[in-house]
Amino acid sequence: MSVKVLAFAGSLRTGSYNRLALKAAIELKPADMQIETFDIAPIPLYNEDVRGKGFPPAVEEFRNKIRQAHALLIATPEYNYSMPGVLKNAIDWASRPPDQPFNDKPAAIMGASGSLLGTARAQYDLRRSCVFLNMHLINKPEVMIAQAHNKFDASGRLMDETTRKLIAELLVNLAAWTRRLSGEK
Ligand SMILES: Cc1cc2nc3c(=O)[nH]c(=O)nc-3n(C[C@H](O)[C@H](O)[C@H](O)COP(=O)(O)O)c2cc1C
Repeated sequence: MSVKVLAFAGSLRTGSYNRLALKAAIELKPADMQIETFDIAPIPLYNEDVRGKGFPPAVEEFRNKIRQAHALLIATPEYNYSMPGVLKNAIDWASRPPDQPFNDKPAAIMGASGSLLGTARAQYDLRRSCVFLNMHLINKPEVMIAQAHNKFDASGRLMDETTRKLIAELLVNLAAWTRRLSGEK
């Protein structure tokens, strides 16, 4: 089977390194994988009163795309040692019952940030939320793009060879993991 991946980044800005990392993933994916990106920008702030009246259209669309995907790829920045509020907010919205769509979903995470630790702390927080939502995350390789401002060229292409290899390996592992969980060898 061709593995259908839904990818989203926890940054809204146009020049986001995490969005660029997803662009690199599309370039580096194995032939038997399709990657569709979803922009979380239209998702409103979570409000239980609003949910009581039904999911807003952007959330409904996000939930449907998650359901339809075989696997997920999440790229997170690090804000104050954790994942950004916009990413947590999008996950919080999509996770609400009924039929929370993250359940049983294979997933891979990565992240780009300015510091030397390259989103390590944000990724561990994101991983924790994914565990609660019963997603099945790839453990290795860990793709932590440190000092992201030095890893992309002026056109936004990921130039760092080590990082390119790690992303390619992550995606190969995600394809194999997704097949394994679906019962396909
Ligand atoms: C509110 C805020 C908090 C931040 N905190 C961290 C941090 O804790 N660790 C870190 O490595 N970078 C931190 N940064 C810098 C981000 O890593 C950097 O802006 C990065 O480019 C954001 O990802 P993006 O390029 O995908 O938007 C912070 C940036 C903002 C705006």
